[in-house]
Amino acid sequence: MVSENGKAVVPRHVAIVMDGNGRWAKKRFLPRFFGHKQGVDALVRVVQACIDREIEYLTVFAFSSENWKRPSDEVSGLMGLVLAAVSRYLARMGDMGVRIRIVGDRDAVSDKLRNAWNEAEAATAHNSKLTLNVAFNYGGRWDIVQAAKAAIKAGVPAEELSEARLGEFMAMSYAPDPDLFIRTGGEVRISNFMLWQVAYTEFVFSDCLWPEFGEAQLDAAIEAFRERDRRFGGVKEAAPALAGA
Ligand code: FPP
Repeated sequence: MVSENGKAVVPRHVAIVMDGNGRWAKKRFLPRFFGHKQGVDALVRVVQACIDREIEYLTVFAFSSENWKRPSDEVSGLMGLVLAAVSRYLARMGDMGVRIRIVGDRDAVSDKLRNAWNEAEAATAHNSKLTLNVAFNYGGRWDIVQAAKAAIKAGVPAEELSEARLGEFMAMSYAPDPDLFIRTGGEVRISNFMLWQVAYTEFVFSDCLWPEFGEAQLDAAIEAFRERDRRFGGVKEAAPALAGA
């Protein structure tokens, strides 16, 4: 959505690193798993809030290529939680008009989870209110490498390889680059999320722990985004001509 002066009123594409689930649970003397469980509920709330604000794309970092390093019970807990979330929320997401797309390396996940992803994508493929990209077993560097491999396999000659051409092979080539990147949980880093796509994205870092993130925090991030002066490497207005030049 764009205002009269051409500035975006709401971002078209929001990307979120949903951080702080573990600390949310720890503060309550609960196992980390409970934080992730609450994190799923926060995600459902934020999906609805994005639809209400006419945001077109929401990309969330649900499991990174590096998250395999976590204790095995946390990894299997997260896998189980995602499976349960698909069966619990798929119909609701469909009713909300959400199109689900999974981005990441599917080779390493179980057949059960891969089938659930395929089912979620197929069941929501016709929806167009909001595209929810779930980055799972995803890493920004992985994406760049898989795009390069795909370009080579497609026979693209080196001299034809440009940013635009390689971009066609990136996992989210169907979506515009994110306008707004939000990271909750107080850490100030990208953690290998969407490295290619965030070249000109506006960043907002929030101390809020992800399970507590909701409409108010989303609106605060959008407000901060609105105040930014996006120049995409250019200048705001042409420099005045030099006198006598
Ligand atoms: C980071 O918090 C969060 C994750 C690694 C997992 C996020 C996953 C979800 C919210 C579930 C998504 C579910 C679906 C269906 C897409 P952390 O564990 O690093 O928290 P900490 O920094 O406080 O330890």
